[in-house]
Amino acid sequence: MAAYRLTILPGDGVGREVIAEARRLIAVFEEHSPISFDITEIPCGGQHYLETGEEWPEGSYKHCRDDSDAILLGAIGWPGAHLPNGDLAGGQTILGLRSGLKLYANVRPVKLYPGVLHKVHGIHKQVWEPDLVDLVMIRENTEGLYHSLLRRMEQKATGGKDERIVIDEFPGIEGEVAWDPRPISRKGSERVIKFAFNIARHRERKLGIPQSVTCVDKSNVTRGCRLFRKIFDEIAEANPDLETHRAYIDAFTMWLVRNPEELDVVVLPNMFGDIATDLASVLQGGMGMAASANLGPKHMLFEPVHGSAPKYAGMNVVNPTATLQSVQMMFEALAYRHNDDDMDVCADIVQTAIQQHFEEGGCVTYDLGGDASTSDVGEAIADRCEKMLREQFATA
Ligand code: IPM
Ligand code: MN
Repeated sequence: MAAYRLTILPGDGVGREVIAEARRLIAVFEEHSPISFDITEIPCGGQHYLETGEEWPEGSYKHCRDDSDAILLGAIGWPGAHLPNGDLAGGQTILGLRSGLKLYANVRPVKLYPGVLHKVHGIHKQVWEPDLVDLVMIRENTEGLYHSLLRRMEQKATGGKDERIVIDEFPGIEGEVAWDPRPISRKGSERVIKFAFNIARHRERKLGIPQSVTCVDKSNVTRGCRLFRKIFDEIAEANPDLETHRAYIDAFTMWLVRNPEELDVVVLPNMFGDIATDLASVLQGGMGMAASANLGPKHMLFEPVHGSAPKYAGMNVVNPTATLQSVQMMFEALAYRHNDDDMDVCADIVQTAIQQHFEEGGCVTYDLGGDASTSDVGEAIADRCEKMLREQFATA
């Protein structure tokens, strides 16, 4: 199997530190297994913008689009880093790619590992029971409330023309108005909802446990959500063997915190998914544990859900697990897409290493109640992988 073309975008703040741990992990696999990567690292983000006046070097978007089998991103966003029009500096990278590469499914698993302390009540608590928290949120990633910003960022990244939506007046509102339209389309909803049903089937096969699909929206109030719900109902009807639930986002936030064990696959419009996944991360030990994949028909981008954490940048203290788990998701997705058995074995090894690290009381960072550094945790998980790889791919 030829090397996979991997583009790495460390971005801002702690993004750079957690990406260094991802690289350490990937290097172990390159050395001790048949899989290999052809890696290009590209600087980007708000800090890069403040330093150079550009969000990333020219040609970067094209490289991600045309010369990458997978993309790995650290974090985007830095205090004071805005474009002249007020938009997020670095947005070309994260939002331009989500929109331009049609990465319509933002997959965010929420799993509490044995040995990890969840963070409800702000107190570290160990209440792990099998399957108490093991769900996956699928956030629509290309339209909804993000649509205008996504379009602006895609246009910047691709050099396309700036198409503005114009509206003249808002009846009943006086004075200065700022607004964000929230288009939700049949096509955009159908593809992400079908994806959620497919993930549910995939999880049933993998876990051997029946899976339900839950639609979260605000269809009692907004038209866009009414369309989203209608399409969910159509797809549910075509998949009668899968149990389905429906919830409004406000009530869902309670449900999520009180009975996460009842949830398996959850599908949500863009902004609701953004908010609910931060909330859900508390159930799995916080943002340091929350990994994600942005998947489209041809491209894929992986990133921790957390941001650049300026307060902790450069201190080597944040939890790298979300990023290492994102690498695990990348291995899994590459294995699936390229039908690559070696890659599949490697994905399982990363998964086992992360799980066993916590289960067996391995070192943890401050967010999980420990005092280990980012690199301590990265090294411990990489070492576990190396041991398993030596057994798995030992040559006679
Ligand atoms: C996320 C982030 C991004 C988003 C920001 C950085 C644009 O919060 O990935 O959840 O809002 O989608
Ligand atoms: Mn977010």
